[in-house]
Amino acid sequence: MTQTDDLAQHGAHVRADLSLSLCKELSITLAKFPRVSLGHLPTPLEPMDRLSEHLGGPRIWVKRDDCTGLSSGGNKTRKLEFLMADAQRQGADTIITQGATQSNHARQTAAAAAKLGMACHILLEDRTGSKDENYVLNGNVLLDRLHGATVSKRPGGADMNAEMTTLAEQVLRDGKIPYVVPGGGSNPIGALGYVNCARELTEQAAKAGLGIDALVHATGSSGTQAGLVVGLAALKSSVHLLGVGVRAPQDKQEQMVFDLAQRTADFLGTGLSIERSDVRANCDYVGPGYGLPTPGMVDAIKLLAETEGLLFDPVYSGKGLDGLIDQIRKGYFDGMNNIVFLHTGGSAALFGYPTTFDLPGYQDQDDT
Ligand SMILES: Cc1ncc(COP(=O)(O)O)c(C=O)c1O
Repeated sequence: MTQTDDLAQHGAHVRADLSLSLCKELSITLAKFPRVSLGHLPTPLEPMDRLSEHLGGPRIWVKRDDCTGLSSGGNKTRKLEFLMADAQRQGADTIITQGATQSNHARQTAAAAAKLGMACHILLEDRTGSKDENYVLNGNVLLDRLHGATVSKRPGGADMNAEMTTLAEQVLRDGKIPYVVPGGGSNPIGALGYVNCARELTEQAAKAGLGIDALVHATGSSGTQAGLVVGLAALKSSVHLLGVGVRAPQDKQEQMVFDLAQRTADFLGTGLSIERSDVRANCDYVGPGYGLPTPGMVDAIKLLAETEGLLFDPVYSGKGLDGLIDQIRKGYFDGMNNIVFLHTGGSAALFGYPTTFDLPGYQDQDDT
């Protein structure tokens, strides 16, 4: 080993030690907030070597938040650990939330309420206009009902916050105590779940001696990215964070994330200030609209299913992956060695989109 190698190795050790001590500090800060255990944490961090080889690019890893455990997993479980604890603290017995028809957030909220013995009302907004029976009844909608939630529908464009307020008033009149979880669980309480994920990932990487260059994920209601921005800032991390948008245009998405990140940092109470330049979203992969399939999403989901045996969803993680793959091909990550894709879950939604993937039928016995 040369002297330069020796120095580089020493530097890496010092950085890992510093990361671990900042992780510990952040754990102590987070421990001040009420939290219920709902997820299987920490989630695994795994290499996707067949995908990396296929793309001939950097080494790609997957942070398996699809394995959080609650009702087929996903990113909302981390947020719900803090939100449901807040609901319990307020003495609530009835949870109200809203989302799109195939909302993964609604499904995980219904499951969390079931686990904690609370009633759950879900309002589903018809954002796509699809009348496909699988879309309106299968996938997440089937699971919402299986978890015992009361599900009602609202037309696309309805004021869903006002709808939730009206429902909460009704619940109160019925003698129950409602707690409203915002769409996507995205407020400073929910975002704490992803402050914690930034800590968890940083700790995993430091212990494994892995230098993560970039972290990529699908961004929608913004709580996941806002929490990660705050967590990475608290850890003084140099990881390049990129959200791939699924609904709003870039300016609006970045502003939403930035606003929530600032509010989350204030809520955390450590005097952290958030840089606008730490908030990056690429919204080129939305296609015709929220929840509507794109060829890139279809190809990305098929590629990952065939190369890694992993399932992603058509609305969020599939479009996020499309962005990751396309940006690797276009050179956005050139010079970076290790890129982590945060798998935010959602595979239950695949069953709401069975005809989207244009798969061959069964082979007849005569053909074999
Ligand atoms: C599978 C999946 N990925 C990503 C997201 C986006 O997360 P956020 O709403 O926190 O931006 C969602 C939100 O519903 C989701 O269900």
